Amino acid sequence: MVVRVRKEEAQAILRQAIAEDLLDPRRKVTAQEEFVEIPLLGPLSGHEARQQDHPEFYREAPELSEMLKADLSSEEIDLLPRGWFILGQVIIVKIDSRLDRLCPRIARALLSMYPRCKTVLRDFGIEGQLRQPRREIIAGSITETVHVENGVRFKLDAARIMFSQGNLRERIRMSRLGRDETVVDMFAGIGYLSLPMAVHSNPRKILAIELNPVAFHYLQDSVQLNHVADRVRPLLGDCRDRTPVGLADRVIMGMVQVTDQYLQTGIRALRPGGMLHYHQTIPSRLYPARAIDDVVKAADEEGRKAEIIGCSRVKKYSPGVVHAVVDARIDK
Ligand SMILES: C[S@@+](CC[C@H](N)C(=O)[O-])C[C@H]1O[C@@H](n2cnc3c(N)ncnc32)[C@H](O)[C@@H]1O
Repeated sequence: MVVRVRKEEAQAILRQAIAEDLLDPRRKVTAQEEFVEIPLLGPLSGHEARQQDHPEFYREAPELSEMLKADLSSEEIDLLPRGWFILGQVIIVKIDSRLDRLCPRIARALLSMYPRCKTVLRDFGIEGQLRQPRREIIAGSITETVHVENGVRFKLDAARIMFSQGNLRERIRMSRLGRDETVVDMFAGIGYLSLPMAVHSNPRKILAIELNPVAFHYLQDSVQLNHVADRVRPLLGDCRDRTPVGLADRVIMGMVQVTDQYLQTGIRALRPGGMLHYHQTIPSRLYPARAIDDVVKAADEEGRKAEIIGCSRVKKYSPGVVHAVVDARIDK
């Protein structure tokens, strides 16, 4: 099944297909004269789907286990990583500690699968308030790269800076919001949410606040790289001190675990009727009530009223924990 659209509409419809989890990852997006065919897994709302006459498939990557089976025991094959992700030219992979001695071979096999990649990093998870990854080079040497997603260029050092694949839908959602608005992004990182908005939605101004100097450095570089310096103003520091009061049409709070401690600062930044996006990790069994309660209570403490517009799951965060985002209009 495909949807056939004119070239000038293709970007927007491709984004809709990704946001609705309907893009078929096995088939290529193809172009013929002034039309583009977007491969779908199911019907896309608002568009007529049709059968595809000449589907083009991506080449199936060989299994890692196939490539390494000659040298490995069956126990070792069972422990091999089944997934990894790519940021620019860097492959990031979690490897079971029982396979320590095989790391160089796994890295070589991964590099042979993705010839444009130069480096493989072993991932040990993300830590602390600054959300820094713990990663170790197992092949190659260059870890600074430019990752392109949805027409946005993110420069980063993949060994020192996180980039959550699971937040893709939220990055796309933000790329559709903020037109003509003044926006405050309180936990900007390298511009995960500010840059898609700045590139695609033409906001009046985005104040992008970031505490970690390393992430801030890449935020500044990516603002230049995407030619949005007229719209995005990066600010280094703690959002508790640097968030302005009463002028934002929209506030993004893209942090987890401790975000509730900053809610009153976020609410104070909004003009009456402004929109808050509050991210938080909560136990799945308390979804969505816990996240909504946080917002309602904080607004109340500020003498304001929160109208809940929606709450959605950004991703599964860990067993029994969901990363949620609440959208709330803050009145008065
Ligand atoms: C988890 S990242 C943002 C993730 C992003 N929402 C996404 O979609 O991938 C949060 C960022 O907030 C920054 N941060 C943490 N505490 C902060 C604070 N008090 N003020 C400003 N930035 C802060 C961290 O350094 C980090 O870069």
